Amino acid sequence: MDLDIEGNAALVTASTSGLGHACAEALSKEGVNVTICGRSQDQLAYACDRLNAMGEGDILGLQADVRDPDNVKGLVRETVDQFGGIDHLVTSAGGPPSGSFMDTEDTDWFQAFDQLLMSNVWTTREAYPHLKESDHGSIVNILSRTVREAQDELVLSNSIRRAVLGLTETQAREFAPEVRVNAVLPGPHETSRLEELAEDAVERGEYDEYADAIQAFAEEVPLDRVGQPIELGDVVAFLSSPRASFVNGAALPIDGGAIRE
Ligand SMILES: NC(=O)c1ccc[n+]([C@@H]2O[C@H](COP(=O)([O-])OP(=O)(O)OC[C@H]3O[C@@H](n4cnc5c(N)ncnc54)[C@H](OP(=O)(O)O)[C@@H]3O)[C@@H](O)[C@H]2O)c1
Repeated sequence: MDLDIEGNAALVTASTSGLGHACAEALSKEGVNVTICGRSQDQLAYACDRLNAMGEGDILGLQADVRDPDNVKGLVRETVDQFGGIDHLVTSAGGPPSGSFMDTEDTDWFQAFDQLLMSNVWTTREAYPHLKESDHGSIVNILSRTVREAQDELVLSNSIRRAVLGLTETQAREFAPEVRVNAVLPGPHETSRLEELAEDAVERGEYDEYADAIQAFAEEVPLDRVGQPIELGDVVAFLSSPRASFVNGAALPIDGGAIRE
């Protein structure tokens, strides 16, 4: 299927590894010019080399922290300077720390609020005027299955991501018809975030071995495995494209059927 997005411009935040990177890869393979970002310069350089080697579109790599509104303004400004506009925005951010309600301090709550919710507010506010100018403006917010089914030891994700879902639904109504806005809800995918959650579970004594913790993630999924990041990236590229032109305000699980409701 031709996604008909060749030559468009995309900004994908938090995208030097994992799910954001896979979205950048899928868009780039379709000939989209893509800006990626992350905090680590080394990781950024590696990610740019990788995308340049495999993609079709041009890649702009910028060091930025999505929790800093000035960094976010720079991302949008430099993307527009380089590519002449922005047609597609994909928002992601690193995952918040794991933990139970009683283990979670006020500072964790405020940091997760900036990381998950305000990063989206700042990025979307800056990018929207450019998306509105596009003939194919789209936003996809990467959230989590936690918005549909609370997960143990993930109180910050369970709580704050639901606000980002409400924001997504609001943006979908306010920005239509010029810009479509959707969310994807990942289940477990093989990224460094999943490794971190597995290590935390071993540290809490829930599993003896790291491999057991990873196996437990796979066992919750009817397809009997965790996802590969590109399996999410391909869906995000489709949702960003005119092939999904009547999809707006959707929150699509990409989880191998793990959500039970
Ligand atoms: N993987 C899963 O199974 C899964 C499931 C459900 C939800 N999610 C959510 O999906 C999102 C992406 O997950 P992932 O698995 O792809 O994570 P990941 O593999 O840890 O990758 C996170 C990426 O975001 C960048 N990043 C982190 N914090 C950032 C910040 N403040 N500013 C800019 N870039 C930042 C990282 O680079 P730097 O560290 O260099 O900044 C890295 O490129 C997270 O919110 C995660 O909680 C993941």
